[in-house]
Amino acid sequence: MNKRGNFIVIEGIDGSGKSTQTKLLSDFLSQNGHHIILKKYPEYGKPIGDLISNWLYSKDYDFNVEAQTLLYFADFIKDKEYLENNLKNGKIILSDRYFTSTMVYQRIKGMPMSKLNILAQTFGLIKPDKVIYLRISPETSFERKLQQKELDRHEGDKKFLNVLFNNFEKIAKECNWEVVDGEQPTNKVTKDIINIINKII
Ligand SMILES: Nc1ncnc2c1ncn2[C@@H]1O[C@H](COP(=O)(O)OP(=O)(O)OP(=O)(O)O)[C@@H](O)[C@H]1O
Ligand SMILES: [Mg+2]
Repeated sequence: MNKRGNFIVIEGIDGSGKSTQTKLLSDFLSQNGHHIILKKYPEYGKPIGDLISNWLYSKDYDFNVEAQTLLYFADFIKDKEYLENNLKNGKIILSDRYFTSTMVYQRIKGMPMSKLNILAQTFGLIKPDKVIYLRISPETSFERKLQQKELDRHEGDKKFLNVLFNNFEKIAKECNWEVVDGEQPTNKVTKDIINIINKII
């Protein structure tokens, strides 16, 4: 029987390097003989992800926080069997955001942690083995995001970025997420993440 795999989530505010790092980590770990599954949430281009995207970029309508939570939750929970089977088969799943993002964003908007926990328990959400939080300042985030053409409803808002940063800090502490300094050069960030991952795989 295969050794059970690992589910690793890369988190952080906008522009913290999640996409850059998941790709680099996937390449590195694959070259070292590991079987990697890359995930990215929300899953844009798929039915639930597209509903989320329409909301994020809509200027005409908004969802209440309950609907937002359920949409994001549906995006994760639809992959429950897929994630579980891959973990059973010894794969390493690297995910760019997950329920951990919902814990930050939707809590800011008023969803209590107790309700998020009830959802996760009721439907058997797969828990990450490790959450790695790439810490960058709201200022760095804003500078990096300025390079992008179109920003979603959260990204262009400097005040919201500050709130987001403070909440990431708070929840990272509460939930014992591993913190990596995302302001370092890209290769140093990768090195720090690999050191963390090597301890559990
Ligand atoms: N360590 C780094 N130093 C400087 N620039 C970086 C670093 N890591 C990533 N970048 C650059 O910052 C920008 C945002 O990076 P990336 O897309 O990986 O972040 P992200 O966390 O995935 O953002 P989003 O939340 O918007 O998806 C990109 O232009 C990327 O090249
Ligand atoms: Mg990204």
